[in-house]
Amino acid sequence: MPIDPFKLERYFAQYEFKVKYLLSPSDCESLKMDEVLQMASSASLDLWHGLSLSYTESQGLPLLRAEIARLYQNIPPEQVIVAAPEEAIFVAMQTLLTPGDHVVAVSPAYQSLHEIARSIGCEITNWTLQPGRNGSWHLNLEQLEASLTARTRMLVINFPHNPTGYTLARAELDAIIGLARKHGLILFSDEMYRLLEYDPSAQLPPICDLYEKGISLSGLSKSFALPGLRIGWLATQEKAWIERWLAFKDYTTICNGAPSEILGLIALQNKERIVRRNLDIIRTNLASAEQFFSEHERQFTWFAPRAGSIAFPEWLGGEQVEQFCQEVLEQQAVMIVPGSLFDFPGKHFRVGLGRRNLPEALEHVARYLKVL
Ligand SMILES: Cc1ncc(COP(=O)(O)O)c(C=O)c1O
Repeated sequence: MPIDPFKLERYFAQYEFKVKYLLSPSDCESLKMDEVLQMASSASLDLWHGLSLSYTESQGLPLLRAEIARLYQNIPPEQVIVAAPEEAIFVAMQTLLTPGDHVVAVSPAYQSLHEIARSIGCEITNWTLQPGRNGSWHLNLEQLEASLTARTRMLVINFPHNPTGYTLARAELDAIIGLARKHGLILFSDEMYRLLEYDPSAQLPPICDLYEKGISLSGLSKSFALPGLRIGWLATQEKAWIERWLAFKDYTTICNGAPSEILGLIALQNKERIVRRNLDIIRTNLASAEQFFSEHERQFTWFAPRAGSIAFPEWLGGEQVEQFCQEVLEQQAVMIVPGSLFDFPGKHFRVGLGRRNLPEALEHVARYLKVL
């Protein structure tokens, strides 16, 4: 089956590098290369200066995989494969799913989390986050259980969640793992926004540590503010999957960019510092967003995120949300992602909390509202 265009990415491709303000990016203010190099230990700087721009090891630089494995408890470096995050989703789905498989995926979602499976010929059931009246999100575990069939092969989750900023309670995660184990499911867990929990006690353990058929997807694009490196990874306890992924990766990128691997290594060695910096930006922006949405209660319902760098509030104005986004773009040069790009009904839109100029972007939305 042909793969459908990635709506969100096509929308970004149209405007991301042309408009003045982005209200909806999912990443944090990117670090500059100098900032990363300034954090480097002398050993890493030696690696950087002596770097040969050759092909690299397909599975990922061993030193980098060793540093990644330190993020987990039950994952040795051999059980990690490094690839661009989006590539990693593609590789995992292409190798583990076959036509006719049933896949349950959290919804709304980053499109590739369900579209790749659909294009393979899988049947997809959405497990949908529901908006409550009080600006909160809800997931129903009974609904998840009811959607599982004898053909269900994979459950796809993503917490902290894009686009709502919702995250599960530990008991809910345990219940999901219980269901996955009972039904023998592969549990694909997109953990790209992990480490960006506002309350450290809300941080969930990675799936790959908790479940023998779990896969954790992570990377440096969001929590580490380094999307330009294109470094992500899959981690799992299942040995056979690593072999399959490596065989498939020969048809995608073969190996990772040599400079990206060293810069990624330096970033991981400075995890606490980088994550603290990003959480500081997010907290400051959360305060601005809360103030903005409380000052405009008649036009919006604010849905406070629990973790990550994004929120998914609702537009209450008379127009459709796409029209609101289009007008703000044309009149104030602010790009806003409407919820329809996630196939989500209603009038939600995404707000990115990771960029330093969010208050300015909101100021321009306020100007648009004034002349309405
Ligand atoms: C939930 C989620 N997973 C995966 C990705 C892919 O990351 P990258 O764009 O760095 O490949 C994104 C990017 O927005 C995302 O939001």
